[in-house]
Amino acid sequence: MRRPVIAGNWKMHKFIADSVATALALKPLVANANHCEVVIAPVFTAIKSVADRLEGSNIRVAGQDCAPEQKHGAHTGEVAADMLRDAGASYVIVGHSERRQFYAETDSMVNRKVQAAIAAELTPIVCVGETLAQRDAGLAERVVKGQIDGGLRELTVSDLERIIIAYEPVWAIGTGRTATPEQAQQMHAFVRRIVAEKFGEEASQRLRILYGGSVKPENIAGLMAQPDIDGALVGGASLEAETFAKIVNYNAT
Ligand code: PGA
Repeated sequence: MRRPVIAGNWKMHKFIADSVATALALKPLVANANHCEVVIAPVFTAIKSVADRLEGSNIRVAGQDCAPEQKHGAHTGEVAADMLRDAGASYVIVGHSERRQFYAETDSMVNRKVQAAIAAELTPIVCVGETLAQRDAGLAERVVKGQIDGGLRELTVSDLERIIIAYEPVWAIGTGRTATPEQAQQMHAFVRRIVAEKFGEEASQRLRILYGGSVKPENIAGLMAQPDIDGALVGGASLEAETFAKIVNYNAT
């Protein structure tokens, strides 16, 4: 009943020409993927070109971040959520661990970005996840709960309908070390429980929770077999069309 989402986060990779070429190569490979939403997140400068070339296809485009401010103005270097929408995006990743770690993004900034995305009619993909030190210290659930409490503060049940959460343990991102399907499932079920407490059981059952962290063609099926894993946010393995298509088509026989 929850439609899966397979999203590719290209991070700071690819010039415009390569972004467009990868998107065009992906198009026929996922054209029959009716079982899920397919999303790619190119760098800001390539969003418009990629979105234009994907018009009429089943691939949607995401920004990798957006400004916390909704009103246009003196915010050098920022891109407003409605500007992403204007460029052809329909999703936006917010609170990615790289932004939290290297650009000092806080839960309250994430919260403002989520609100900005919703106001611009974008679907925010809100990333949460603990570091290895936090997991080893037994703090994984507490950290994730804090990120959800802070990131989704003051949102309504109808806001929640527009949101996707991505659980990405920091120790699994770009390390080749994936959480086991059981580890991921355990955290996803926990996230759904927290969301149920805040927004009610029904809303929590509709929420899509993606897993991210070294997702590959070899491990996607095992992850997707878990009851609370509703898709994937894929970094490294999304850069090449054939590999990403194998992940999208995880259900192909
Ligand atoms: P990875 O990245 O798949 O390369 O581990 C995931 C992410 O950062 O979203």
